[in-house]
Amino acid sequence: MSLTKIFIHNFRCFDDVEISLSPGVNFFYGPNGSGKTSILESVFIFSSGKSFKSTNLLSLIKHKQDKFYLKGFDGSKGYVVEVEKSKTKPILVSLNNKKTVTSRLIKEFPCTPIHNNTFSFADAPPEFRRKLLDRSIFIAEEAFASSWFSYYRSLKQRNGILKNNRISDIYAWNKKLSKEGNQLTKFRKLFFDQTLKEFYFLVDLLKPNNVFSFFDEMNIQFFTGWDSEKSYLEILEENIENDLRRRTTTKGPHKSDIKFLLNNIDARQILSRGEQKFFSILWSCAQHEVLKKTYKINATLIIDDIKSELDDRVFNLFIELLNHVKNQIIFSCIDDCFSSKITVNFNEFKKFHVEQLG
Ligand SMILES: Nc1ncnc2c1ncn2[C@@H]1O[C@H](COP(=O)(O)OP(=O)(O)OP(=O)(O)O)[C@@H](O)[C@H]1O
Ligand SMILES: [Mg+2]
Repeated sequence: MSLTKIFIHNFRCFDDVEISLSPGVNFFYGPNGSGKTSILESVFIFSSGKSFKSTNLLSLIKHKQDKFYLKGFDGSKGYVVEVEKSKTKPILVSLNNKKTVTSRLIKEFPCTPIHNNTFSFADAPPEFRRKLLDRSIFIAEEAFASSWFSYYRSLKQRNGILKNNRISDIYAWNKKLSKEGNQLTKFRKLFFDQTLKEFYFLVDLLKPNNVFSFFDEMNIQFFTGWDSEKSYLEILEENIENDLRRRTTTKGPHKSDIKFLLNNIDARQILSRGEQKFFSILWSCAQHEVLKKTYKINATLIIDDIKSELDDRVFNLFIELLNHVKNQIIFSCIDDCFSSKITVNFNEFKKFHVEQLG
């Protein structure tokens, strides 16, 4: 994408708002509760049909209203996307006036969201990092979705067999699951390797070591979800008794993770909050850069509340980062902390005072 215009109706704190976005850098500022996150959230909905903040879409409907309605325009492609959610019906998505499924949105309006949960990326449960990685691969690789669904379907089947103690069936399912698991892992490992390369490229570019010293000692590893000295099939067979006892498949790609180690200790035990935030944003940006450079996909970068918990030195690193990302960027901050001296190098910079939008 670039969304060039969005229209928001009965969404969160807003009645009706129309915003013309820049294909370059968009900055929303305003005090607590003014609606910054809500605007970024609406852009994410165009990309996924989901919120990055709430699992329940009903909470997004403005209080005392029956539905929210969002409309977005992509000026360069001439696309119109509409999303409607009423209290009593499932979400309705249409693209160019034709009903479509939410999974189509991520392909047409890809975006990389960076927000409160992403800020503690290293601290989050493994599932969060897996999802973040998978989300980018869904955008990048056509064949990933079917590989992902095949694996998780087979996993469900194998777990069903374990629950019902149908041992005679298990060997056939081990084979199927290991084949699909290896395929899924290949996709993840490839994307992880590319991300790691981009990550160090960004680290070099920003030279954060003048600010943080930990980058030199950081060791980032992809964990497949099982002991990789052995094949997944061997692991499944070795673990049958344990799995039967636990009545679930204990090892495999559904346990895969990205590990961040500092002197062999989990980085979350060590990094300060600001360090975690900086590191997490950089990792998400690295995934974003892989989409751009390797797959030629220009996703919109969304960063909510960019400045909180960062001191001026770290904030300056981000300004360099924003200068480097050439896609559409939509980000927010409580204060208007971007003087014209800073933004002169930004690509087509547009600033919005959120309180004046409603
Ligand atoms: N469904 C809803 N109906 C009405 N108001 C809502 C709804 N959901 C959230 N709000 C309110 O919308 C306002 C804007 O919330 P939002 O999270 O976008 O603010 P923000 O500008 O990001 O604030 P902060 O700087 O604290 O992060 C808040 O006052 C919130 O309570
Ligand atoms: Mg907010």
